Amino acid sequence: MRIEFVGGAKPLLEATGAAAFLLGEGDVHAALSARLDAGASEAIERAATAGGFTGAAGQSLELFAPPGLLANRLLLIGIGELAKVDERAVELAAARAFAQMKASGGETLLIDLGDLPSAHGAHAALGVRLAAYRFDRYRTTEAGRGKPVASATHIAVSRPATAAKAWKTLEALADGIIIARDLVSEPANILYPEEFARRVKELASLGLSVEVLGEKEMRKLGMGALLGVGQGSVRESQLVLIQWQGAADAKAAPVAFVGKGVCFDSGGISLKQADGMEEMITDMGGAAAVVGTMAALAGRKARVNAVGVLGLVENMPDGAAQRPGDVVRTMSGQTVEVINTDAEGRLVLSDALWYCQQRFKPRLIVDLATLTGAIIVALGKNLAGLFSNDDTLAANLLAASAASHDALWRMPLPSEYDKLLDSRVADMKNTGGRHGGSIIAALFLQRFIGQVPWAHLDIASTAWKPASTVPTIPDGASGFGVRLLDRLVADHCEGRRPAPASS
Ligand code: BES
Ligand code: MN
Ligand code: ZN
Repeated sequence: MRIEFVGGAKPLLEATGAAAFLLGEGDVHAALSARLDAGASEAIERAATAGGFTGAAGQSLELFAPPGLLANRLLLIGIGELAKVDERAVELAAARAFAQMKASGGETLLIDLGDLPSAHGAHAALGVRLAAYRFDRYRTTEAGRGKPVASATHIAVSRPATAAKAWKTLEALADGIIIARDLVSEPANILYPEEFARRVKELASLGLSVEVLGEKEMRKLGMGALLGVGQGSVRESQLVLIQWQGAADAKAAPVAFVGKGVCFDSGGISLKQADGMEEMITDMGGAAAVVGTMAALAGRKARVNAVGVLGLVENMPDGAAQRPGDVVRTMSGQTVEVINTDAEGRLVLSDALWYCQQRFKPRLIVDLATLTGAIIVALGKNLAGLFSNDDTLAANLLAASAASHDALWRMPLPSEYDKLLDSRVADMKNTGGRHGGSIIAALFLQRFIGQVPWAHLDIASTAWKPASTVPTIPDGASGFGVRLLDRLVADHCEGRRPAPASS
């Protein structure tokens, strides 16, 4: 998908494929007559009125062979009251225009932003890039209407150079989101821990430094919990460390992102039921979001030091697999009785979180994990759970969430529930009963956190959307977390702004 910014009113008149015009509520007459000659503008306005189109947000109307235009289709896209139109409204309107064009098999799209600020053109481009996402690497027989052929989108604004400049930053974000979606979409026979690590290494070209630890190194470090999860798999477990040095002070403490990367979660000996198990190829969604975030930060040269830590394993049943009842020793020295081998994400994270703190002494840590089915029960499919030991970090994440539209809901960490993790034989067990499952999982993680401001995002609810209704999230992998963390860094961790740490 090529995206270009073009200037003035001419592109709308000259487009030959599909043309979309973003129109504000109550502005239809003025906008049309400013762009088209009197006859054409009158005819299109009549069609709009007949179709009930007023320019309200969310409205769209498709006209064929529109008078006065070379385009074979004209899409009128409503963006609501002009005075209230923001970047998000433009992003969604452009995404809707693209989806409509794709559905009708068009090849090219021209989106005319009318008199909206030129910088909004970059947000239209973001909407188109995200809406155009499709994971079709393994479709070999698709042809004709089934296969979208969309190849180029032109975005018309008054000052194209302004839009192009704003797009430079946003394009890095779009790339990061798409990297995360691709990783989540890949099946587990292709994307196992070593292959995941190899793909991360390719991102060194962005200026990221990437280090990979194998099982031998992790054994030396004493990562018995992470290694226990992977021991039933023929694939070798990996710990991947990604670093971005963008702060003026090279020694400034980094922000750290830690991701659960279970490339496939069969449940292990505590085997999951067959129905829906295929979705467990997405159980590395936390690690994918960390990779996408690091790529976005590097791509836009964020003025921050950041590290990403990925715990990559495959959770399989096998003669060598760990058993319920096994006791493992974590890198922290604490021991864990494994009650259920399907509660594996917290075991992986316990060692990844500990290593992250020991090695990098970060100023804050955010971990992302498709950790519990219980978070879906609690919050549904549009909200991820936020758990934090630090009110400032939590507030900053909620602000970044509101600004980025990666929706979070804060959940509690009640200390009186912590004893549910007590074990008969070890320092703790890895499950604490059926009730409050997401909270218990977060309390388990907290046992591996020292003094650092920390937040845990349970994204089991949002990483994968089999039936998305948001035009910028085609069904499937959402890339949830990338926008959120990029925004957290941009608004709270870069430049001379104070760090979110409250301690
Ligand atoms: N990967 C799953 C959680 C999950 C469920 C992610 C649905 C995405 C969609 C996790 O490893 C898991 O199996 N959790 C168990 C924990 C239980 C055994 C305490 C769960 O949620 O049932
Ligand atoms: Mn599991
Ligand atoms: Zn899992």
